[in-house]
Amino acid sequence: MSAHDMTFPSDFTFGVATSAYQVEGGLENDWAEWERAGKLKDPHMRCGRGVDHWNRYEEDYGLARDVGATAFRMSLEWARIEPERGRVDGAVLEAYRERLLRMKARGLRPVVTLHHFTHPSWFHRETPWHLPRSVDAFRAYARACAPVLEGLDALVISLNEPMVLLLGGYLQGLMPPGIADGAKTMAALENMVRAHVAAREELQAVLGRVELGISQNMLAFAPDRWWNPMDRALVRLGAQAYNHAFHEALVSGRLRVNMPGIGSTRVDVPGARGSCDFIGMNYYTRAHLRFIPKPPFIDFKFRDVNGRGLTDIGWELWPEGFGQVLRELKRYGLPVWVTENGIDDRSGLRRPDYIHAHLKELLAARADGVDVRGYLYWSLLDNFEWLEGWGPRFGLYHVDFNTLERRPTPACRYFREVATTRQLLPPEAVLHRAPAPGAEPLRLAQPSAAR
Ligand code: FCB
Repeated sequence: MSAHDMTFPSDFTFGVATSAYQVEGGLENDWAEWERAGKLKDPHMRCGRGVDHWNRYEEDYGLARDVGATAFRMSLEWARIEPERGRVDGAVLEAYRERLLRMKARGLRPVVTLHHFTHPSWFHRETPWHLPRSVDAFRAYARACAPVLEGLDALVISLNEPMVLLLGGYLQGLMPPGIADGAKTMAALENMVRAHVAAREELQAVLGRVELGISQNMLAFAPDRWWNPMDRALVRLGAQAYNHAFHEALVSGRLRVNMPGIGSTRVDVPGARGSCDFIGMNYYTRAHLRFIPKPPFIDFKFRDVNGRGLTDIGWELWPEGFGQVLRELKRYGLPVWVTENGIDDRSGLRRPDYIHAHLKELLAARADGVDVRGYLYWSLLDNFEWLEGWGPRFGLYHVDFNTLERRPTPACRYFREVATTRQLLPPEAVLHRAPAPGAEPLRLAQPSAAR
């Protein structure tokens, strides 16, 4: 690519991402229950006060501005807003409204997620996703949220990573509600598509126009054994089910999944056609899929194929996959927002190279015609990483989990430089240092070779 291709246009948005449960603190919901049941990797770990973002939001908006961000992704916590079914807490809605107004006043465009993995404690007991009445519950919640969003020009995300919730919570039983049932997974999937449509109707009724989408976790997939036809078939079917089925339903109106041994569906969802205005995507890594001869017939692992090392959690560093899945989104003909991308890096030293390699892929995809409008780094702050608890550190800012002090990692300066100059320089040119050991191979010598 030429120097010209290393430039972001002036209307491209750089921002940062968070979610309520992971940062706010003081929340009671299905995840808090899950923790008390000892279901995290470390059964004694608790999210507790989070990183106290509920009280420190002003400071955190300032930190976002300091890295050059002009958009801030946050989520509304359903359990705070509707702690008992049908009882909406007006004071909480006002508190969220106040936060969003402050955010906006500080030059940050709000990117607001209605549902980021967590549910009020009553939800799974009364209206779990595999029952049709879950759609009514989400509709009522969206109706309550709508006035909070008025006049903000927010980008709105109905659901964060529904496939992750379905896989973890309904198929593997690893996340709340802890169900492991293929038929319920498929029913829940269809209801979540319907719930998105219901939310759209409610938001439109109050706001008129709304820029609405979902955030889809996308993985690059590869066969675990390149020569094995079953592994290769899984890659094809898995990519359709995991990466595309949801967005396809929101664009075409038809939900199509075919995962032998897990579940299949082919159904037209009323109102789903044309029900999203942008494609929100989150990208982290690549998974190698392997056929196993017993249910659920599929296994996956992350492998260090290129000797770049894995992240602290054990994810493969595979920026090439980012470019690949971005190109796959061209088929939808809609603007694309990267609503999450980031690295869990305790050292803080590999993050600039990670960002550089992924933004390089993003620019190459744009040059190939993918209409990517924005990039939100996950995350502004170190935070509570679900089943992994307080182990992983994704933050541009390091958080001392005892004092809650926020301190910039080297990536802050790098991100700021890119976001403000709009030039994608290599980290060493910005940070005046040698590349971090282990990060060097992330540099893509021939970005097109992997495609
Ligand atoms: C995504 C989640 C987000 C965070 C990152 C690391 O799957 O949406 O909350 O946990 O992974």
